[in-house]
Amino acid sequence: MALETTTLFDEADALSRQIEASPVGNAAELEAFRIRFLGTKGLLKQLFGRMGEVPGDRKREFGQRVNAVKELAETRFNDAKTALEAATAKAGPDFDLSLPPLPSVLGSRHPINLVRQKIVDTFARIGYAVAEGPEVEDDWHNFTAMGTPEDHPARDMQDTFYIAGHANLLLRTHTSPVQARVMESQKPPIRIIVPGRTYRNETISARAHCVFHQVEGLYVDENVSFADLKQTLLYFAQVMFGEKTQIRLRPSYFPFTEPSAEMDVTCLICHGQGCPVCKNSGWVEILGCGMVDPQVFENCGIDAERYTGFAFGMGIERIAMLTYGVDDIRLFTENDLRFLEQFRAEV
Ligand code: PHE
Repeated sequence: MALETTTLFDEADALSRQIEASPVGNAAELEAFRIRFLGTKGLLKQLFGRMGEVPGDRKREFGQRVNAVKELAETRFNDAKTALEAATAKAGPDFDLSLPPLPSVLGSRHPINLVRQKIVDTFARIGYAVAEGPEVEDDWHNFTAMGTPEDHPARDMQDTFYIAGHANLLLRTHTSPVQARVMESQKPPIRIIVPGRTYRNETISARAHCVFHQVEGLYVDENVSFADLKQTLLYFAQVMFGEKTQIRLRPSYFPFTEPSAEMDVTCLICHGQGCPVCKNSGWVEILGCGMVDPQVFENCGIDAERYTGFAFGMGIERIAMLTYGVDDIRLFTENDLRFLEQFRAEV
């Protein structure tokens, strides 16, 4: 009995030495240490479990001895853990902050967006405010209010997408309905510029698309004349395409303007010398315009005796194609980066 007891006390001493000698230099060693000595089936638990072998008068002494060994193991474990955590924190995250960053690719604005912005800015400088309207429009604003009642032959000028199940609703075929909406809700003087998306049931080709963009302009006040229209458009053309740009107005027809005209500018590519873009004429067509038809004023609740006004509308894709020499309108909606990346600079 005495011999066995001595052996158990010796085992406690041996365990202390093992505890002191076991490595705890990294996380794996530390975990192995914890399991071996402090785990639920660890050596300390095992030694405690042998309490029954100790004679009654030495049980207390043995308990104290094993507890001391346990405290030794815990202290060594906790110290090593604190040291390891401190070392990890000091080393920082496990990636190298001194490495050069991956090159970041700068995005660029879409060419349609660039051109739209330049048009809007040009008119903002002479007091035009931006107005917008819905893309799903009603028949009244898109057609009837704009001088195109049902069965009017001019409705055939634009192939319209109607909304299934809503005889009265359509995708707007131009930005002109926003003229009507603004005149219905505002009193003159009105000076607005209306950029927006428009839709026509066209077969998609290099020249035409069923979704495109327009910018509408409208100026209503007392004594607005055709000369004002012409001077405004000359100002616009020269800011947009260069100081030397000339304009010419050709008589035309729109159901909502009278008189109506189409405006040409000297060719952006050859400046009037003649080239394939202007088909050797030296001129390219840019927009439609005219004096607001008095009937449109009446339709929108504006006194046609007191007020006059002019309106104009242009296609953004067309201007972008002329400006950048793009020969296929489909490129604008294909999102091919090789195309889009060429428009980093401002127009
Ligand atoms: N809305 C016409 C079109 O889409 C353009 C236009 C606008 C003409 C304003 C005259 C006045 O062709």
